[in-house]
Amino acid sequence: MRQTQRLTSDETGLAHAAGILRRGGLVAFPTETVYGLGADATNAEAVAGIYEAKERPSFNPLISHLDSFESAQGQGMFDETARRLAETFWPGPLTLVVPAAPTCTISDLARAGLDSVGLRVPAHPLAHALLQRTGRPVAAPSANRSGRVSPTDADHVLGDLDGRIDAVLDGGASQVGLESTIIACLGGTPRLLRPGGVPREAIEALIGMRLEDGPEGGRNPLAPGMLASHYAPRAQVRLNAASVEADEAVLLFGSEAPQGVESARTVLNLSENGDLVEAAAHLFSYLRQLDASGAATIAVSPIPEKGLGEAINDRLRRAAAER
Ligand code: TXA
Ligand code: MG
Repeated sequence: MRQTQRLTSDETGLAHAAGILRRGGLVAFPTETVYGLGADATNAEAVAGIYEAKERPSFNPLISHLDSFESAQGQGMFDETARRLAETFWPGPLTLVVPAAPTCTISDLARAGLDSVGLRVPAHPLAHALLQRTGRPVAAPSANRSGRVSPTDADHVLGDLDGRIDAVLDGGASQVGLESTIIACLGGTPRLLRPGGVPREAIEALIGMRLEDGPEGGRNPLAPGMLASHYAPRAQVRLNAASVEADEAVLLFGSEAPQGVESARTVLNLSENGDLVEAAAHLFSYLRQLDASGAATIAVSPIPEKGLGEAINDRLRRAAAER
């Protein structure tokens, strides 16, 4: 249980909120769409805290919030269309999914292991001030518990998350009350991933073409690892492994080593002391590293189905099924 502070929308409150974020804490803050539950996007353990507080049973890529288009350009690569959209609709209720830049510092967990990033520069003056003072990308889904409605004021946030987050920056009611429009610009025709605060017509008028529909439903086959909203390892994934075959890559959890582990090609431990928050923070980067070892199979130790274990197991089951 954390003590949740209600911070005022003045210099003191902002400095406090930025300090908490920089130390890896969780701060809910107003944007012009809804209140977001923010964490330092570059700190995977902080991002894992978002999932824990929301009790989300699955991981998806999160939107990282920035103070300016200039900051966003350090994180993502903007083609001509993405640049025009950013220049026209930022700051505002638009999120752009673009390929991650070589200088990207957003954690694997915030990106759900993908090579792309979801970026947004919000227009709310308090959000902007907070992001400037934090000086880092801030990952923020809506500040509600999983399955509840998105919050548009500080009381909604506290109703759901009091005792589960460090603070809420109280900036009164959000204006739009509807999440941001999400557009993927990953080469080819831009795609509307989620309708929201900026109408589709306004975007199509600006770019002079029709947006493709939906995350994966369009006519063009997707480049692997680009639009598919889940990172899929190349290796086979074997769950609940009680023993290890020679030359397998191994993903451990906790202090118990499975039989045969000494014949493994490579071994990583999500959390030696069985901490599920730490495990969530490592999940995507460890899967990537084990996959890169060239092993045909990744054997995974059993992970308890409680707390963040539910989201971790959900992700692992998908990885085991994706073929
Ligand atoms: O209005 C909003 O957008 C609010 C406020 C707080 O800014 N934020 C919000 O964030 O709704 P979030 O993290 O819940 O949005 C997550 C969605 C994912 O479900 C996915 O559709 C999309 O953003 N997304 C983010 N990064 C992506 C990526 N790399 N590839 C594909 N989709 C991505
Ligand atoms: Mg939401």
